[in-house]
Amino acid sequence: MKLSISDSVKKIPYYPKALMYGHEDGWVRLSSNENPYPPSEMVFESILDALFGINRYPGGEKELKDDLAGLYRLKGDNFLIGNGSNELIEMTFRAMKHDARNGVIVTESSFAFYDIAARIYGYETTKVPLEGLRTDLGKIAAAIDDRTRIVFLNNPLNPTGTIYHQEEFERFIGSLPPEVLVVVDEAYAEFAESESFPATLAFLEKYPVLVLRTFSKAYGLAGLRVGYGIGDTELVSFLERTKQPFSINLIAILAARAAVKDQPRLAAVLANNRSAKSFYYESLKALALEYVPTEANFVLVRLGPRADEITKKLFDRKVLVRFMGAYGLPNSIRISFGTAYENTRCIEELKRLL
Ligand SMILES: Cc1ncc(COP(=O)(O)O)c(C=O)c1O
Repeated sequence: MKLSISDSVKKIPYYPKALMYGHEDGWVRLSSNENPYPPSEMVFESILDALFGINRYPGGEKELKDDLAGLYRLKGDNFLIGNGSNELIEMTFRAMKHDARNGVIVTESSFAFYDIAARIYGYETTKVPLEGLRTDLGKIAAAIDDRTRIVFLNNPLNPTGTIYHQEEFERFIGSLPPEVLVVVDEAYAEFAESESFPATLAFLEKYPVLVLRTFSKAYGLAGLRVGYGIGDTELVSFLERTKQPFSINLIAILAARAAVKDQPRLAAVLANNRSAKSFYYESLKALALEYVPTEANFVLVRLGPRADEITKKLFDRKVLVRFMGAYGLPNSIRISFGTAYENTRCIEELKRLL
């Protein structure tokens, strides 16, 4: 007997092999916007401590919420912890399910998992085009109708590294119907340097907004899978009802607690990111390649019609970057910032291929 699979699930792309490359020696892995540096030493110590507690179900989630509350000057009850922010994206879809409203709005080029989770939970996705490679909040507001349940914003935007600004968000959020939840995925917020990057947390009390952040990027814990949501306490307790108990393991929770405590380590990572950014700007200019100024830990580079071919040739030389065809940008690649050695390798290989 053959198992029947629904059409919406059949359409979800399947990339099992792509996930496996780059973990062996010799690969320069600049395709997933990871942190190229190991996390804080305090994280390693906390992992060793955690090992002595793994016979028990994981505790420590409340304490992690309290640590984050201290960092952001909020209450522990304003926080949700997830197995990566991906778990929280999924939880949001689950919790917000509504018979009469099943529309989700995302930008046309955006993180693929929003649409994947939307399909899994039976929502209909509307993709709103970018304007000059930026999220256009005016266009998003215009796309909202009486079926819209969730709007997914991502700031800085993966894959362009662009942002929308404080006053744009202020105008947008004030114009929304109360049945619509706005999820602001700020996975790369720590890297943003613009003074007009929105202070989204200031809107939590007054509007239905959930901010998502992660330990996978600036804190360098992608392999442990910890993300967090920040929202009004009522919204947080509502969403948390649909969360699996113990979905974050003890090692991850204790590592995240240690990472929050080591803010100097975070500052060092951000300084390295600034140097990598300058290196790419200068090197790409020298190669006469067009790029999008970025507020994140990656840069979108325009290579023209050879973008796919060049990505494959870089792959043959063990340099992984991301071709942007799946994001609707078939002339571009996205390069994540690596270590100085990795960045130099990437630019040298690009130069050779051009
Ligand atoms: C915009 C965005 N949101 C969320 C994630 C996933 O983060 P996590 O590792 O916390 O699940 C990513 C990962 O690349 C991302 O780019």
